[in-house]
Amino acid sequence: MTEPSSYPVMDVYRQREATDLSHYQQQYDESINNSDAFWRQKAQRIEWTKPFTEVENSSFDRDNLHIRWFEDGELNITSNCIDRHLDKHGDNTAFIFEPNNPDDSNRVISYKELYRHVCQMANALKSRGVKKGDVVTLYMPMIPEAIFAMLACARIGAPHSVVFGGFSPEALADRIDNGQSKVVITADEGRRGSKTIPLKDNVDVAIQHCHSTRVDTVIVVANTGAEITWVDGRDVDYTEITDEQAVDCEPVSVNAEDPLFILYTSGSTGKPKGVVHTTGGYSVYNSLAFEEIFDYHRGETYWCTADIGWITGHSYVVYGPLLNGATSVIYEGMPNWPTANRAATIVDKYNVDILYTAPTAIRAMMADGDKSIENCSLSSLRLLGTVGEPINPEAWRWLHSEVGKNNCPIVDTWWQTETGGIMLTPLPGATALKPGSATLPFFGIQPEVLDADGTVLNGPCSGGLCIAKSWPAQARTIFGDHQRFIDTYFSSYDGYYFTSDGCNRDEDGYYWITGRVDDVLNVAGHRMGTAEIESALVAHHAVTEAAVVGKPHAIKGEAIYVYVSLNSDTEASPALEKELKNWVRQEIGAIASPDTIQFANGLPKTRSGKIMRRILRKIASDECDQLGDTSTLADPTVVDQLIEQRQMIK
Ligand code: WT7
Repeated sequence: MTEPSSYPVMDVYRQREATDLSHYQQQYDESINNSDAFWRQKAQRIEWTKPFTEVENSSFDRDNLHIRWFEDGELNITSNCIDRHLDKHGDNTAFIFEPNNPDDSNRVISYKELYRHVCQMANALKSRGVKKGDVVTLYMPMIPEAIFAMLACARIGAPHSVVFGGFSPEALADRIDNGQSKVVITADEGRRGSKTIPLKDNVDVAIQHCHSTRVDTVIVVANTGAEITWVDGRDVDYTEITDEQAVDCEPVSVNAEDPLFILYTSGSTGKPKGVVHTTGGYSVYNSLAFEEIFDYHRGETYWCTADIGWITGHSYVVYGPLLNGATSVIYEGMPNWPTANRAATIVDKYNVDILYTAPTAIRAMMADGDKSIENCSLSSLRLLGTVGEPINPEAWRWLHSEVGKNNCPIVDTWWQTETGGIMLTPLPGATALKPGSATLPFFGIQPEVLDADGTVLNGPCSGGLCIAKSWPAQARTIFGDHQRFIDTYFSSYDGYYFTSDGCNRDEDGYYWITGRVDDVLNVAGHRMGTAEIESALVAHHAVTEAAVVGKPHAIKGEAIYVYVSLNSDTEASPALEKELKNWVRQEIGAIASPDTIQFANGLPKTRSGKIMRRILRKIASDECDQLGDTSTLADPTVVDQLIEQRQMIK
């Protein structure tokens, strides 16, 4: 059977009354041609404590860069996420928590209960001196208290900075210091399958490593009940401190442009940057995007498998769903533990209607074959979504037929930490699908493809993906370093936001993301800067030089491949290889631990000393016949040595 090249709308979306593409097109045109009127109307989805008068005030001109939306409006995002649902829908379920261990009992949290938890937590933060504008760091497992804590911060206008629980104490310390965060919220331990993560111990170490910040409060959730060390006066038990608080907490009205959160992400140079998102535009955009893209109807059950440590967790586990009064499943553990079909079992257990997950998870399920879906009907599903990396058509088709039973559209959503919300996506029921394409822009998004010279390309083409004008959920700055924000995103192409992704646009105007064109890897959907891993490696006494490249990997998308040269008195050995892997784990976290280390006598450099990663990528991928031009190398014999060494470690 030959595969269709595109999946027409009605073939994949029978269950609901479909809108059609002309409906999308008409709204999209309005959102671009009449942008202020469009967003003024969409902003009515939000309850403002002070209405805005002006919609947008922005410019991508690098000498006058500014991005402001609804700038004289005031609101509180948690009133919009919680309070306004209480009257009619207070008993609706906000979250169903599925614990790591299937034998432990789950928890169901209604909007009324969410209100109480968030208010008590917010009052607890106030009792420890947290005020509007103070950054609060969260280092949490995927448990309901993590969400209560985020919302508690937002309730009182304190920006949260969530650090993924897989990052090391060193990485956590950097982030605490960068945000000058005096309060950290954590748990005794997190659970991931059969492993536990010593979160509180890591916080203790991180605090010792902070250079410029004195953390005065650590709020600790007893998650596993493990024995932990306790610093009197600083450490506070979550239950104790929240139980004694009043059950109401007046939401603090903030300006639309006040920061809602900081979230760190990797770039091609330097330390991770704290991307800052503000309140008003982010709320409007994600409230709309969640409803339209997931076609969410109240009462349906939605499950986004992302961790709150990433932007997907912020926008589509917490804020987008709550702004729409949705019911979400949250899950602490791994999709394939203790059995390969755990994720599918959870879908059946809660009759999940909408499942939003990552290509890497789908490929992992695919690799387990029928086992990943055995004894599961999956019949509740009506819509599937993917995010984080390009989905290969093979995985797309497997998802479509084996999980979706040829009955669910797939929304392949392209976006970034910096974009705050989904940018390219099909609208289910309106957009014909093509496996591997994130299809068309969402409302208000004006993508352009530019070539290396900065020329805007028309029609079918390939080049760098840029965005021509601001959208409400866009990041506003990098915390503490606005110049870096301008340099990173607005200096490659004059007047455009540059995404650092390459893409193709086809004859139907569909976008096909080809991946990062900078030195950023995408490992199992996680963004990793090669420079970050390299600087961790050269901090080890045995290493003089390191170069990190991505190597295609069947499940993770990319694997981390490292070339290391050692100083003259150190011998390469399997023991050292292990030590270096652990070293990176310690410096950054397990997600950055190299898959392969190749010890190298020298690295291929240009005469000006720049490492030619293109060559290193080819060698790592065993494509030595495609090395291209090596004539500009300072010492071309280095390449032959590297190829020889590569043969030995294969
Ligand atoms: C990078 C952003 C947005 C939430 C998760 C990742 C890649 C993301 C897709 C997609 C192809 C994708 C891009 C992007 N990416 N979604 N649907 N198709 N590539 O956020 O960690 O900021 O990473 O992820 O390369 O630049 P992030």
